[in-house]
Order: sequence, then C-alpha cells, then structure tokens
Amino acid sequence: MSLAPWRSSIAHALYRNRSLAYCKFVQLATVRPDGHPANRTVVFRGFWEETNQLKFITDFRSQKISDLYEQPWAEVCWYFPKTREQFRLHGRLMLVSLHTDDKELQALRSQTWQDLSLAARAQFSWADPGTTRDLDAPFQMELPSETEVLPEFCVLLMDPQTVDHLELRGDPQNRTDYERQTDDTWVRTAVNP
Ligand SMILES: Cc1cc2nc3c(=O)[nH]c(=O)nc-3n(C[C@H](O)[C@H](O)[C@H](O)COP(=O)(O)O)c2cc1C
Repeated sequence: MSLAPWRSSIAHALYRNRSLAYCKFVQLATVRPDGHPANRTVVFRGFWEETNQLKFITDFRSQKISDLYEQPWAEVCWYFPKTREQFRLHGRLMLVSLHTDDKELQALRSQTWQDLSLAARAQFSWADPGTTRDLDAPFQMELPSETEVLPEFCVLLMDPQTVDHLELRGDPQNRTDYERQTDDTWVRTAVNP
C-alpha cells in the first residue's frame, strides 16, 4: 500500500511542532450505542508500519471499546498550535485485543506493550475505569512485566476514509479534502475554508 497524500502534511506538521510534547494528543470521537457522541483525548502512537492507519492504545474496559463494537466509525480531530493547522480524520476503528487471532496484529500488540514506559503499563492493572472509586481504600496497582501483556491492553487502529486539512495561516486560509476511492487511490480537492 502506498502512503496517502495527506501523510506528508501530517509528517510535516509533526516535525514543525516537535517542540510541543502535547502535539501528539488528539481528540477521538466515537458514537455511543444510544447514538450520542463521545469524545476524549488519546495519544497518537505513530502509523502502523507502512500503512495509513493511525495507532492508539487503550483499555479493553473503556467506553470507546463498547462504542466501536456497535459502530466502528470514528473521527480524530488534531490541532497543531505552532503551525495553526487542523486535521480531521474520519474512518473505521479496528480493535486489536487479547481476542484477536491474527498473528501479525498480535505481534503489533506485544511490540506496542514492550515499547511503553513502566508507568504506562501499570495503568492497565488499575481497577475498572469509570466505576465508582472507594477513596478510603488503598489504590491497587502492580508493575506488569515487559513480556506479559495484560489482558486489558488493546491497540486501536484507525483507517481513514476522508481527511480534512485546514491551515489557518495565510490569507486566505487553505482547506484541502482528501477522499479515499480505493485502497490505494485518494482524490485531493481544494475547498473553500
Ligand atoms: C493528555 C491525555 C492523554 C490520554 N491518552 C490516552 C490514551 O492514549 N489512551 C486512552 O485510552 N486514554 C487516554 N487518555 C484518557 C482518555 O481521555 C479517557 O479519559 C479514557 O480513555 C476513558 O475514555 P472512554 O471511557 O470514553 O473510552 C488520555 C487523557 C489525556 C488527558
């Protein structure tokens, strides 16, 4: 698969905003089973190998996982403050969990786990996220090993179908839409901002 034309714009934005640690924080919106939107911040963890799929990590017990079982469509909104540009990527989410059979995807899950810091790995040993916390009880956590991937640990891959790139810099602003026609073909259109 060849790299989509919007990939170079994201690479450029990541490079020019590299001094801002938070430039890899994106907003990931999903649709709840009741049809209401849900949105949260997640860390962009690169693209999966040579594909155009964005990689995120999450906990199997989180709301976004139950959302995507019902409805895999999601949108990522990503703002780069230094270069003042926004990307909105719309596509399907694919879950890579303990239950995923595909060997290549399971290897991706293990490798991503190994690449995490100790503190990041420990979060997957915490009690059920979103359930009521007993503030009087000691906070339970363990330090999981590098090789034993905790069952709660998941990788999420997002496969964009459309990308909307808005550049605020310039007079006038520039806005470019990208639409995927086939696996490998994208149509790029300059649109009014
Ligand atoms: C800066 C920042 C980075 C975050 N990164 C992640 C992440 O990479 N993965 C993740 O699942 N949650 C991340 N979170 C927590 C989520 O925003 C959210 O609270 C959590 O995933 C539960 O959301 P859900 O139950 O709607 O799925 C991050 C939060 C912040 C503020």
